[in-house]
Amino acid sequence: MRIDIISVIPELISSPFSSSIIKRAIESGVVKVHFHNLRDYSKSKHKKVDDYQYGGGPGMVLMIEPIENCLSQLKSKTSYDAIVLMTPSGKQLDQKLSNKFSLFKNIIIVCGHYKGVDQRVKDYLITHEVSIGNYVLTGGELPAAVFCDSIIRLLPGGIGNETSALNDSFQDGLISAPIYTRPENYKGMTVPKILLSGNSSEIEKWRDKKSIELSSRKNDL
Ligand code: ADE
Repeated sequence: MRIDIISVIPELISSPFSSSIIKRAIESGVVKVHFHNLRDYSKSKHKKVDDYQYGGGPGMVLMIEPIENCLSQLKSKTSYDAIVLMTPSGKQLDQKLSNKFSLFKNIIIVCGHYKGVDQRVKDYLITHEVSIGNYVLTGGELPAAVFCDSIIRLLPGGIGNETSALNDSFQDGLISAPIYTRPENYKGMTVPKILLSGNSSEIEKWRDKKSIELSSRKNDL
């Protein structure tokens, strides 16, 4: 898979890609990630990428021109399955959406910034709008990193243990059962006996029960 990320602050997004599982996925060639600084696609003398909004109002708006320049350059060399804008007004990210995107070959992610982007970017240039939740961050960079992480770990070879991503919480709409490791007893806090029993069918039943219990309580405070 190839992911191109367009941002006004590419350095804000690159660090999650340089450690751990995602770094290994990149090194092993499972995914190629390219970062593009939107300012490099501005034709103005001062590399301007944003401007005031028509009609008045606070906040700067990302202009269509540098975004269009960058997208046309990328599209002239590669064909893309999706061009995504990260925005709080987009479709809310969930496991199903990550699964869908993990099947794509090439995608572009545009990170919104400031007040937002010129509406014509949404109307004419992008194919999907994605939000990571109903709250507003300062830009789309962290949401793009979250989105990419959730996709890359699903790619074949993208995660150490092949079965692990399939067993994730939410793959079946449920949260995974609690997990424990050594020691069996830590300062009086013990591991449930069933997990030490060696009885795999009873363990599976216990896990299913816990998973249903946890899922029904998930949004309780
Ligand atoms: N940009 C700012 N907030 C965002 C959010 N919640 N999701 C996606 N992009 C965003």
